[in-house]
Amino acid sequence: MSFLYISTSEGATHEEGYKIAVLPGDGTGPEVVQEGVKVLQAVSSVEGFKTELVEYDLGGERYLKTGETLPDTVLAELRTMDAIYLGAIGHPDVKPGILEKGILLRIRFELDLYINLRPVKLYPGVDTPLKNKGPAEIDFVIVRENTEGLYAGAGGVLKRGTVDEVATQESINTYKGVERCLRYAFEFCRQRARARKLTLCGKTNVLTYAFDLWERVFRQMATEYPDIAIDYAHVDATCMWMVKNPEWFDCIVTDNMFGDIITDLGAMIQGGMGIAAGGNINPQGTSMFEPIGGSAPKYTGKNIINPLAAICACQMMLSHLGEKKAAQRVERGVMQVLQDRLKSLSAGEMGYSTAEVGDMVAEYSVKG
Ligand code: IPM
Ligand code: MN
Repeated sequence: MSFLYISTSEGATHEEGYKIAVLPGDGTGPEVVQEGVKVLQAVSSVEGFKTELVEYDLGGERYLKTGETLPDTVLAELRTMDAIYLGAIGHPDVKPGILEKGILLRIRFELDLYINLRPVKLYPGVDTPLKNKGPAEIDFVIVRENTEGLYAGAGGVLKRGTVDEVATQESINTYKGVERCLRYAFEFCRQRARARKLTLCGKTNVLTYAFDLWERVFRQMATEYPDIAIDYAHVDATCMWMVKNPEWFDCIVTDNMFGDIITDLGAMIQGGMGIAAGGNINPQGTSMFEPIGGSAPKYTGKNIINPLAAICACQMMLSHLGEKKAAQRVERGVMQVLQDRLKSLSAGEMGYSTAEVGDMVAEYSVKG
């Protein structure tokens, strides 16, 4: 039942323990990360591996106090970790863009986390806004390119603030970046071993340079994967089909910007931000796992935010580290809590506090 993650550390025994950087971050980040860590510690003790957690106070508060976003010394330490576990970045008193670019995007770029992996899986007992669709229909994975495209920062501005202002923002697509993303997607689709179907989501009818590159490499690479059926959908049509016929999808691969957008749509059809998790992956290096919902400032400190997305991010991290059994335990625990206990996934409507949900998942995860 659990997802598979390509990992170089697969099967490695870590007697000395996995070194994990914990970045609780802003808003409700610390509250949900605390529950993820609770579950991590519970399953690591039953499965018999150790973890060494190193916490960093990156985020809005540190920035407001010191002006620092991500100091080079911290970045250097992050590179030496087995994984990074992130809560959320985003502070109401900090201008949008500063923390996102200075922390989240900088880590993605500097550590070359070129894949953003986002499972869209509806668990039994969870409501989806899609009529007549259930867990059998909503179970796919989006592989988003995570270091190029419109996020590369190419472009500029002239005559800002005048009527002659010119602003450009270019999408950068390199052969290397496209190739490695598609490669990961084909390999992932094969390992996942479900419908074995990979859909390229693009816009070949308008973005005729960028998606020509994507499509050529995609079709060429497909000849190396005769066991995988390929399909193509424009991004607008992808949005339509994700709502109308989500069962058509097994794996979707796309660029950074389209991936950003369709993964939020994906999060909604799997039950909302309370359950949506993602991995920022460098298959050869340190990867970072996070709930994708953001810092939710209005719920901060109330002990009512749903920690399941953070717990699911922890599950992805365990799977990536090669601790498949521990990851399966966490997924089982999450599923049991969803099915037997939670009234809703929304903050304040779960029927339990943040900490209680973490306790229940930890308890169910260690059983059996
Ligand atoms: C995400 C977020 C980020 C993104 C923001 C916070 C920069 O929306 O992880 O999807 O756009 O990638
Ligand atoms: Mn996003």
